[in-house]
Amino acid sequence: MTHIPGLLDTEAIRKDFPILDRVVHDGKKLVYLDNAATSQKPRQVLDVLAEYYERHNANVHRGVHVLAEEATALYEGARDKIAAFVNAPSRDEVIFTKNASESLNLVANMLGLADEPYRVDHDTEIVITEMEHHSNIVPWQLLAQRTGAKLKWFGLTDDGRLDLSNIEEIITEKTKVVSFVLVSNILGTVNPVEAIVRRAQEVGALVVIDASQAAPHMPLDVQSLQADFVAFTGHKMCGPDGIGVLWGRQELLEDLPPFLGGGEMIETVSMHSSTYAPAPHKFEAGTPPIAQAVGLGAAVDYLTSIGMEKIARHEHAITQYAIQRLQEVPGLKLIGPTTAEDRGAAISFTLGDIHPHDVGQVLDEQGIAVRVGHHCARPVCLRYGIPATTRASFYLYSTPGEVDALVEGLEHVRNFFG
Ligand code: ALA
Repeated sequence: MTHIPGLLDTEAIRKDFPILDRVVHDGKKLVYLDNAATSQKPRQVLDVLAEYYERHNANVHRGVHVLAEEATALYEGARDKIAAFVNAPSRDEVIFTKNASESLNLVANMLGLADEPYRVDHDTEIVITEMEHHSNIVPWQLLAQRTGAKLKWFGLTDDGRLDLSNIEEIITEKTKVVSFVLVSNILGTVNPVEAIVRRAQEVGALVVIDASQAAPHMPLDVQSLQADFVAFTGHKMCGPDGIGVLWGRQELLEDLPPFLGGGEMIETVSMHSSTYAPAPHKFEAGTPPIAQAVGLGAAVDYLTSIGMEKIARHEHAITQYAIQRLQEVPGLKLIGPTTAEDRGAAISFTLGDIHPHDVGQVLDEQGIAVRVGHHCARPVCLRYGIPATTRASFYLYSTPGEVDALVEGLEHVRNFFG
């Protein structure tokens, strides 16, 4: 067996994830390498979800009965756990949403509705990057279309990094907001937060960070990032789907207007007007994803019990090994950084002129699950002149043996297509 320093005890960890024992396609062992799309869920999270529905299910903040009180305590307890997980100065800075897309749409809409000094209008600029997921492009395009603001972006270097050489032309006195991904879901690149934040702060722009591919994989400290908003999603970090998070600085959340109106987000309502509850409730209209928040709290407990530093070290080691092994496959070209430095565990590649959909299908026949396509980051494919990539993405339970299985699987693909 391959010995690589820094790996977690995956044999023990994998016992927590029942789905990893599955066999597919007539007895092929499942090799799950689609973790950037969604992670699998440990028993510790599945049990909490079942227990919530079996014993505590009720609506939150509304009832005086025992179940309502228990559900409210669990839901608000999850907020405490997530606040601690990202080192938020206050639990009231953690807003529950449906997913990272909703979190990012929420920020874009708050800024479109805001008064000065935050208001985005025709005289202002919005800055993103060419490696964003569509969920950090389209909300800003919509905002730009609605307000007349100008949308600008950082381009990419040939080796899959952000090109910051013209940072002073991209982020200017007119920039109101800079929104960028911390770890790219398609390239794997870990972006240089400090340089971007420094320039944004110089011109007084707000900073929004999409941490969807960071929160599951590395320690995330919203205070040291020095951003104004940080968005991420639960299902990629061992939690259930249907739950996302938007962290925002308290004074901003106090000043900015709500986007969705409805139950739970108000202080009083008359037929003429309403006043709003303080944050975070101001931004959580309607019955929230209660069980999902509780499940995310359990996921955060699980990840913390293993240790985010250790998870990051494990993934770095696996990524290094995978990059090395994949480069042995004739015709394989990595799309993204070709070393494991400042790089996450999502690895995209092309294989000669075999279409990624064909690669994915032949791998699937061998039990190997990868994602193929543009990974909701189509501008990256356009930038590198390719229609799509195959992407293998790893997590805390991934093993060197699974990397070997992928490499063998790719040999089959090459043989299959001659
Ligand atoms: N954003 C997810 C991915 O990259 C769905 O696959």
